[in-house]
Amino acid sequence: MNRRGYFISLEGPDGAGKTTQQEILAQAVRSLGLTVTCTREPGGTALGDAVRTILLNPAYRNMTILSEVFLYAAARAQGYREIIGPALQRGEVVISDRYLDSSLAYQAYAGGADENFVLGVNLKAIEQRLPDRTFLLDLPPQDGLARRAACHRDRMELKPLEFHRRVREGFLLLATRFPERITVVDAALPEDEVADFIWRQCRPDLQSLTDSTSL
Ligand code: TYD
Repeated sequence: MNRRGYFISLEGPDGAGKTTQQEILAQAVRSLGLTVTCTREPGGTALGDAVRTILLNPAYRNMTILSEVFLYAAARAQGYREIIGPALQRGEVVISDRYLDSSLAYQAYAGGADENFVLGVNLKAIEQRLPDRTFLLDLPPQDGLARRAACHRDRMELKPLEFHRRVREGFLLLATRFPERITVVDAALPEDEVADFIWRQCRPDLQSLTDSTSL
């Protein structure tokens, strides 16, 4: 591996169980003796968390799609510079709960923003560092949203079901376009089966990272 560290992102609809899988995976990676940094988007830094409260606040229901693209990208740029980049530089394993594929699925595919523009802005934000592996926890949107109490839905979750259907389509399309990076996981399976599947997929790469760091 010529790049430093190892970078995993978890993607999928709201309520797919990404946060739980992040915790389980982090524990498994640590059991190999590797150092793990977990982060989430939008957020993870003070600035990112502040941007997150704007993005998810239902009061901003008239937010334009372009504002949305820039705000997610701003949180991402900060997260890359403050957390992800340095952790990879130290040779750590980074696990991010969402990353740039979310912007491609939510803002471009479902939200109608120009895809090349969204990609360009975000590649700049992440200094061109795509994840080594991405797991797409796929779930019908109504199942994911049902896991969230209706009265606690944020600005994104309050978008119509049709929007969330397009998000899912967008994610699946990305998986067919980048099959070497993105692996689709059936998030309707029991939690431990999802975790086992993810672990089986990335263990060999992580094992070789252990071997190379112990040289
Ligand atoms: P969050 O509560 O983190 O959702 P989840 O727990 O399901 O991951 O809220 C993040 C919301 O922001 C979620 O609805 C997805 C959306 N989002 C985008 O639209 N674009 C992005 O680039 C990112 C990172 C998230």
